[in-house]
Amino acid sequence: ARTRRPLIAGNWKMNGLKADALALASGIADGVRQTGWTDREVLICPPATLVMAVAEAVKGSGVLVGGQNCHAKPSGAHTGDIAAEMLRDCGAACVIVGHSERRTDCGETDADVRAKAEAACRAGLLPIVCIGETLAEQEAGMTFSVLANQLKGSVPAGATAAKLVVAYEPVWAIGTGKTPTIAEVAAAHAHIRKVLDGLMPDAAGVRLLYGGSVKASNAAELLAAGDVDGALVGGASLKVDEFLAIAKAV
Ligand code: G3P
Repeated sequence: ARTRRPLIAGNWKMNGLKADALALASGIADGVRQTGWTDREVLICPPATLVMAVAEAVKGSGVLVGGQNCHAKPSGAHTGDIAAEMLRDCGAACVIVGHSERRTDCGETDADVRAKAEAACRAGLLPIVCIGETLAEQEAGMTFSVLANQLKGSVPAGATAAKLVVAYEPVWAIGTGKTPTIAEVAAAHAHIRKVLDGLMPDAAGVRLLYGGSVKASNAAELLAAGDVDGALVGGASLKVDEFLAIAKAV
């Protein structure tokens, strides 16, 4: 039996105008409501513009809503940025921080990611801290050291299992249709848990998500891999049936 409650999270990235997004959110909420699941959590992370409307649309279904990024400060002169408190105020329960696209596109460092994760905790949001090696790093045999360094640099100070989710997303598997083997996923997750064990008191309770080309057809085996406690889904989270099928595959 699983000791950690699986979390299936959809990262919509920069996709979704109001009408389609609300239809997607409502479809997912209806599906989850019908199952009555209490043994797993389902989370959707729409663009910031839609967090409030989506939170309203899924209300009462059990579906959680999250942001895709937050600022490290609670307020202030940061034009265009959004504080964790603001996401929370809109009905979010979680926030993704340190996604590789933000590390690459916006130059976010491990220190930035840690500050954002700490801000999320302060605001009462559950941070999903993303880590993962690039193709070059993988080919150079650096996967484990990269993951260890990212964890040491970006896990929030004083982290506890109830206030941290880690997502392992190999950069080369994101949006490419390529995935590591099940053995590679299990080995990376076991390594992540071992590193976390040196950083916090209750690492055994931290949920570790796998992300990168998860779809309905490969979800069951990825989710059954050792130390995998859920999935962070990009492209396949934009279709009601596909995303629900992934959540069912737990
Ligand atoms: O955060 C999820 C994401 O990076 C994975 O994207 O499209 O490969 O499922 P995708």
